[in-house]
Amino acid sequence: MRPLHKTRNAFRTAAGLIIALLMGCTALPESTESRSGDLLIVYSGNVLGELKPCGCDQEEDQGGIERRMGYLKQVLLREPNTLLVDLGDNFKESTRQGKLKARTLMQALAKMNYDAVTLGDKDLLYGNRFLSGIQNIPWVAANLQLEGLTLAASRTKVLDNGLRVFITAVADPDLFYTSSDSNVSLSDPRAALQAQLAKARHSETPDLVVVLTHMTREKGLTFLDVPGVDVVINGHIEKDGDVIDMVPVNREGKIFVQPGPLGQKMGELRVRIHKDGGKTYQQKMVRLGSKAPMDPEMTQLYDAYNAEVEELFMATLAAKRKKKHNRVFATEQTCLTCHAQEHAIWSQSGHGRAYQALQEVNKSFDPECLVCHTTGFGQPGGFISEIDTPELKNVQCEMCHGTRLAHSQNPQGGFAKEANAACGRCHVKKHSPKFNFSRYWPRIRH
Ligand code: HEC
Ligand code: HEC
Ligand code: HEC
Ligand code: HEC
Repeated sequence: MRPLHKTRNAFRTAAGLIIALLMGCTALPESTESRSGDLLIVYSGNVLGELKPCGCDQEEDQGGIERRMGYLKQVLLREPNTLLVDLGDNFKESTRQGKLKARTLMQALAKMNYDAVTLGDKDLLYGNRFLSGIQNIPWVAANLQLEGLTLAASRTKVLDNGLRVFITAVADPDLFYTSSDSNVSLSDPRAALQAQLAKARHSETPDLVVVLTHMTREKGLTFLDVPGVDVVINGHIEKDGDVIDMVPVNREGKIFVQPGPLGQKMGELRVRIHKDGGKTYQQKMVRLGSKAPMDPEMTQLYDAYNAEVEELFMATLAAKRKKKHNRVFATEQTCLTCHAQEHAIWSQSGHGRAYQALQEVNKSFDPECLVCHTTGFGQPGGFISEIDTPELKNVQCEMCHGTRLAHSQNPQGGFAKEANAACGRCHVKKHSPKFNFSRYWPRIRH
């Protein structure tokens, strides 16, 4: 491996000299010595539509566009020689609300001064028309073509300190298989990368070559071995709960890193380019937790999204009201008549004020929150809105004990134990990462 590398470098130098001579350049010594200096690469990705964390759990309360922008403004002030890249998979589900999120997220991204944003398979969820309607995103993709959208195959950024960074991006065609991918055509990522590297060598004279890959970790890692590549940043996520390995892989003066899930943390990769062209790296993840500053412009953008969610919610009410359902839930007020003691404990617990918790954060109209903070939202006979179904607010008895209309009219036992299995429907990892039955149950025992 080594000797081959040396020969190649020698060849590069020779080729450089010849080109320099042809161009009539006289400053020969300078062209043989690399520029040196430091830069910072900040990377994000795998956001899956997370505009703002739900706030269900303090520890998981991280990320969101407000904190990201707050953080970025601080970094760019402190570090002028910064390259900012995003690895894609910004969208999540093809629902109307999902699309609202996607648009808001892209509007946010357009304001964040990114240098390169690549497309993941999830980003085609709403088709090419949607993407081409979004302005000012510095798309980079070398092996991907999308009708109606201009994608740069590569970009070269010249930093304040004179360092030239060449950025290109390739995606794995195997990840693009759904019907929404019908407008996209992908070519072989390796061949596309080789073509870009050739271009870099001949016309861009970069000091650092950064390749953004969108593929599985295993596949992304193989691009680290491509001669001429210094840094590989790989993104891709399937779903919310996926664990992503954020530990860098160092290999012969090169590095491979991955952004974490849901925009909760930002990757910081510090690169030092030495006089002899060698490179050393330092990597860390920066948690966008509750102490991170919130950017007011992003708060405005989020509030506008939230207002649209409320509008959408109101617009769907009329249709829901028309559907007449037989009564399904007895409601806690009925249970109260015979189980006053249990009811008193319940009403003092978090379950008894779960709807209020949403009101306090201006989220009592968001379907994505109501499912777990009310009784039967989205189910026949379940919560519709505070006006329509005030008797179904909060996580009531029947969310754990099952619908018990029959029991409340003709009480018979034998179902208490079933409730033990209910917790896991709402106390999922994302919203209640510390959940543990033996520690949680005593807090609501009745
Ligand atoms: C999958 C179910 C689920 C969804 C969806 C959900 N939550 Fe929660 N939420 C919970 C659970 C469970 C807890 C309690 C977590 C714990 O204490 O371990 C909680 C707690 C909270 C709390 C803290 C309450 C307090 O009094 O401390 C807030 C605020 C909250 N959620 C807001 C939201 C918002 C806003 C959304 C929508 C963006 C949302 N939740 C969506 C399940 C959910
Ligand atoms: C968060 C889930 C949850 C909610 C909400 C809830 N319960 Fe329970 N309840 C349980 C569990 C779990 C048990 C224990 C089952 C067992 O015996 O293992 C239980 C037990 C009971 C029992 C049997 C007590 C005993 O002594 O055996 C009654 C009665 C009861 N609940 C009534 C209610 C009423 C009434 C409400 C609403 C005011 C309510 N529960 C709300 C989960 C819940
Ligand atoms: C009319 C009075 C009455 C109403 C209303 C009523 N219950 Fe009961 N409940 C009882 C009686 C009586 C028992 C004991 C039955 C037995 O042991 O056979 C009981 C038992 C239970 C048990 C324990 C079951 C077991 O396996 O031992 C649970 C849980 C429970 N009720 C939940 C509820 C819930 C939830 C509601 C509201 C939806 C409710 N009850 C409404 C009278 C009532
Ligand atoms: C329908 C969804 C749902 C189910 C089912 C559910 N929870 Fe919860 N739980 C919540 C939400 C939402 C909160 C946050 C409420 C708040 O504090 O505003 C919460 C909060 C809690 C809390 C913290 C609040 C407190 O009062 O201490 C405990 C403990 C808890 N749940 C235990 C349980 C257990 C045990 C079960 C199963 C027997 C269970 N939950 C089932 C939604 C649910």
